[in-house]
Amino acid sequence: NELGVVAVGFSGGQCKPGVDAAPTALISAGLLTQLSEDLGYTLHHDDTVHNYSSLMPSSDPDYRNMKNPLAVSAVTKQLSGQVYDHAKHGRLVLTLGGDHSIAIGTIAGTSRAIKERLGREMAVIWVDAHADINTPETSESGNIHGMPVAFLTGLAKEEKADVFGWLGEEKALSLKKLVYIGLRDIDKGEKKILRDHGIKAFSMHDIDKHGIGRVMEMALGHIGHDTPIHLSFDVDALDPQWAPSTGTPVRGGLTLREGDYIAECVHETGSLVAMDLVEVNPSLEAVGAADTIRAGCSLVRCALGDTLL
Ligand code: ARG
Ligand code: MN
Ligand code: MN
Ligand code: MN
Repeated sequence: NELGVVAVGFSGGQCKPGVDAAPTALISAGLLTQLSEDLGYTLHHDDTVHNYSSLMPSSDPDYRNMKNPLAVSAVTKQLSGQVYDHAKHGRLVLTLGGDHSIAIGTIAGTSRAIKERLGREMAVIWVDAHADINTPETSESGNIHGMPVAFLTGLAKEEKADVFGWLGEEKALSLKKLVYIGLRDIDKGEKKILRDHGIKAFSMHDIDKHGIGRVMEMALGHIGHDTPIHLSFDVDALDPQWAPSTGTPVRGGLTLREGDYIAECVHETGSLVAMDLVEVNPSLEAVGAADTIRAGCSLVRCALGDTLL
């Protein structure tokens, strides 16, 4: 039970400061101790919350409508190497963000390692209120945390090596291996992308209609068993009642138990190879920060095998 941990104190994929403080908050709440002492993982962690300050460009003007393009590209490139170095040894990789732009790095890193080690394409379960599949052109905000899926799947392309050109031709993620759960705030351009490409998505409507149990059966059925799974969990998938301290909260979300249940089901597959927990921002709605951190810790524990009985 080897676990690689990467703590990413990065907020440049969006405009609100504070999301970079999440790894320290989650770790101070005892998350890593629980994983090693209660769940029995052997941790591989450099005891550092990375801020990648040496990679920060002195000037980073908007490019193709993207904000902080050089910084997000440089950080995610570096992070992809960090995640790859854990995953190539067969370790499960836990990345604590940071905003969701960092998934460009984590998914690129695991995808490469899984291809090399197992000759397999992995699947991604993206749990989020948002689809984060804007291209630079469809984005209304210019925030790159709303674009990671587009870059990972090749829907968004950029030649410039220092603006995600390092991702290369080979796609980190195939659209057929992507499943969304919890969606409820999708931009117009994103709706068209989801429809045009027939991307598998379970919205809050689907969860209300079928229940979370049936939705997880369908989601995992779509992936097919034995496929390595990268779980990218945006805490804003949870209703703000449970996770108010996040940059883009949307009402009408998952209960904490539904979130934990998703994580438990992914654990039960035995196919989890990596998890991201992102968008916890302890400085927003500060009265709810402790709840949000507690919820985040619970999601990670459930995905990593904590059981009720
Ligand atoms: N769709 C909006 C945008 O592109 C919101 C994205 C929110 N993303 C997130 N990872 N919280 O700006
Ligand atoms: Mn989100
Ligand atoms: Mn919106
Ligand atoms: Mn997200």
